[in-house]
Amino acid sequence: MKGLILSGGKGTRLRPLTYTSAKQLVPVANKPVLFYGIEALVAAGITDIGIVVGDTHAEIRAAVGDGSKFGARVSYIEQDAPRGLAHAVLISEGFIGSDPFVMYLGDNLLNRGIVEFVEQFVKEKPAAQILLTPVPDPQMFGVAELKDGKVVRLIEKPKEPKSNLALVGVYMFGPEIFTSAKRIKPSFRNELEITDAIQDLIDRGLQVNPHLVDGWWKDTGKLEDMLEANRLILETLTPRVDGTVDAASRIDGTVVIEAGAIVENSVIRGPAIIGPGARIRNAYIGPFTSIGKDVEIHHSEVEHSIVLEGSLIHDLDVRVADSLIGRGVKIHRLPLKPSAHRFMLGDNSEVWIRW
Ligand code: DAU
Repeated sequence: MKGLILSGGKGTRLRPLTYTSAKQLVPVANKPVLFYGIEALVAAGITDIGIVVGDTHAEIRAAVGDGSKFGARVSYIEQDAPRGLAHAVLISEGFIGSDPFVMYLGDNLLNRGIVEFVEQFVKEKPAAQILLTPVPDPQMFGVAELKDGKVVRLIEKPKEPKSNLALVGVYMFGPEIFTSAKRIKPSFRNELEITDAIQDLIDRGLQVNPHLVDGWWKDTGKLEDMLEANRLILETLTPRVDGTVDAASRIDGTVVIEAGAIVENSVIRGPAIIGPGARIRNAYIGPFTSIGKDVEIHHSEVEHSIVLEGSLIHDLDVRVADSLIGRGVKIHRLPLKPSAHRFMLGDNSEVWIRW
């Protein structure tokens, strides 16, 4: 069995971060989302993995390498443009050959992994197995209609969904999917949809098995989803202090402090993670916060946020919350007159000022 991880695409909903970085590399609890997917495949015994990459291929190659650090062998498959999930399958035919495979969307996170799902597929050998979960906003996803436990209809982002069962971004296929992916036409968003290719399997009378996901699943494409995924992963951490914490500081709850991090005269209230080389001084780090490598937080309070590598937050008198702060960002107080907000923001940045 092989694995195919999709890490092309544009990541428009996470701009401006995704102007300079692949959306699959934005970290959750200080680890790129993509790495959780690779680890899930390896845990299910799948070590021969192809990664479909687009414009951000160089960065993804640099982060993942040949896969040996995950105990896997990784090949890269270049997609010229995000022409759809079924297009990504088609260009991977040479890599997959006639093996069954798991397709994993590189921006998805599943807490329980995929072991059970792979076992069921191996036992039942359908043409496809799909994962489904109820969601409050099915129009944002591929949606499945079931009848007597069987999939009867799949529609991508329906305006009027017939059920609340969304397709989770993990699929299992036999080689029949290649024929179906060749038979379909581009959708309303001009993509070759995997949802339509699976519907084609059903129309050809082939077996498509649904599998309901218990436990949580997150598509990390948007800010709120990133923060929620961060929350869910942080709750699963085992507390550990490898950095330096002075006697004037207090650490409460589940907190990881990586080697080389320095905490002085501060309160860290978990679940939270403080990355290697970070410096936290006279600060409060509240629950559900991931502080990246070499970040500096001085005389400020941060909670329910993700702060990426090399950023600094100095001397703020209002707590930073619900925020996703990119790499090398500087937020500090302006000591000069006029007293005003002063910004230098990238395209499509978004700032919320306290009312
Ligand atoms: O997250 C689950 C949903 O994923 C499903 O419910 C939908 O049925 C499915 O179409 C997909 O919808 P999205 O609109 O969220 O897909 P997105 O464009 O975000 O792409 C998912 C991943 O695949 C992402 O990591 C980028 C990558 N990708 C996407 C496209 C369109 C590629 O590698 N190549 C592509 O051509």
